[in-house]
Amino acid sequence: MKAVIYNGNEFQVIEKETPSPSGRDLLVRIKAISVNPIDTKVRKILEGTNSSKILGWDAAGIVEAIGDEVKNYKVGDKVFYAGDINRDGSYASHQIVDERITGIKPENLSYEESAAMPLTSIAAWEALFDRMNIDPEKDKGKRILIIGGAGGVGSIAIQLAKKVAGLKVITTASREESKNWCKSMGADGVLDHRKDLKAEMEQLKIDNFDYILCLNSTDHYFKTMSEIIKPQGKICSLVSTEKDHDLDILKKKSVTFVWEFMFTRSMFTTEDIGEQGIILNRISKLLDKGRIKSTLSSTQDVISVEILNRSHQLLQSGKAIGKISISGIL
Ligand SMILES: NC(=O)c1ccc[n+]([C@@H]2O[C@H](COP(=O)([O-])OP(=O)(O)OC[C@H]3O[C@@H](n4cnc5c(N)ncnc54)[C@H](OP(=O)(O)O)[C@@H]3O)[C@@H](O)[C@H]2O)c1
Repeated sequence: MKAVIYNGNEFQVIEKETPSPSGRDLLVRIKAISVNPIDTKVRKILEGTNSSKILGWDAAGIVEAIGDEVKNYKVGDKVFYAGDINRDGSYASHQIVDERITGIKPENLSYEESAAMPLTSIAAWEALFDRMNIDPEKDKGKRILIIGGAGGVGSIAIQLAKKVAGLKVITTASREESKNWCKSMGADGVLDHRKDLKAEMEQLKIDNFDYILCLNSTDHYFKTMSEIIKPQGKICSLVSTEKDHDLDILKKKSVTFVWEFMFTRSMFTTEDIGEQGIILNRISKLLDKGRIKSTLSSTQDVISVEILNRSHQLLQSGKAIGKISISGIL
């Protein structure tokens, strides 16, 4: 098989032996991948070290071989998945992935449109329904703020919060094109995160939020979130802090603060690891029925050192809108 490794200094195309799947693993022939900020974060950790790794945690492809304990897939099935951060990633022609964190690729979507979805959909679904425990029956009509709505996670979080949970969805975005993108994903209102958020809320006659999903600097937004969350509301963040924060500022309002890390289930092989396969199959059905749409905004052709460098640069600029996929066949 072929793969692109990051060797601590640069991306490099290598040839290596194609692994054989065992247990509940599938060997997938990759047809398309997409990139995420986690790729650039892992790359940064490796920078200047002697370690090398195949990055990339989003792919769509065809099952080429299966382990002896696989229950749900057979050779030839079309699948999509984010994978496991502790294993080799998807910048490759082939990848091993546990069937429990794999879903059936949406039939009506291309490989590129499908590869754009897994990591961000799992993160957004877990944040809304597993971490903040939003109940579409009971919580319909409540208000959520999604900070960083036009990015990869925000684009699917808007759709799930609106179409599946039935919430009123307000996002933040700072540019004309990102504001329009949020509205095209279903946002009911957009606040400009370059301006004072409370003043922006006043303009939309909003005094607080039942839920806040933080997809940008938790350090920067922690105090503001504590001020604009409703008493007994819930805040979920996906972005690590670099500073210390005073949790007590959430006490008076009995606010829940919860983390979402979409690799938790695979990293610790939790008892409910299979939930991620279930989430992906739900996402696949929602996409096929047209209830939600792919968040793909651009496709690059094909996986190469140059394309990966360019895609990483765009992610690091903080100006990505939706998702970037790269056609596979390395
Ligand atoms: N914990 C997890 O499991 C998990 C999973 C996925 C992602 N993440 C993390 O979540 C974050 C978002 O991921 P992503 O894939 O959505 O990223 P992304 O696609 O790169 O996000 C780009 C968006 O960020 C917005 N943005 C830039 N500066 C901002 C600011 N100061 N305040 C609010 N928004 C701002 C931009 O909006 P404008 O252009 O309108 O400014 C842009 O549309 C990343 O840090 C990522 O590593 C964590």
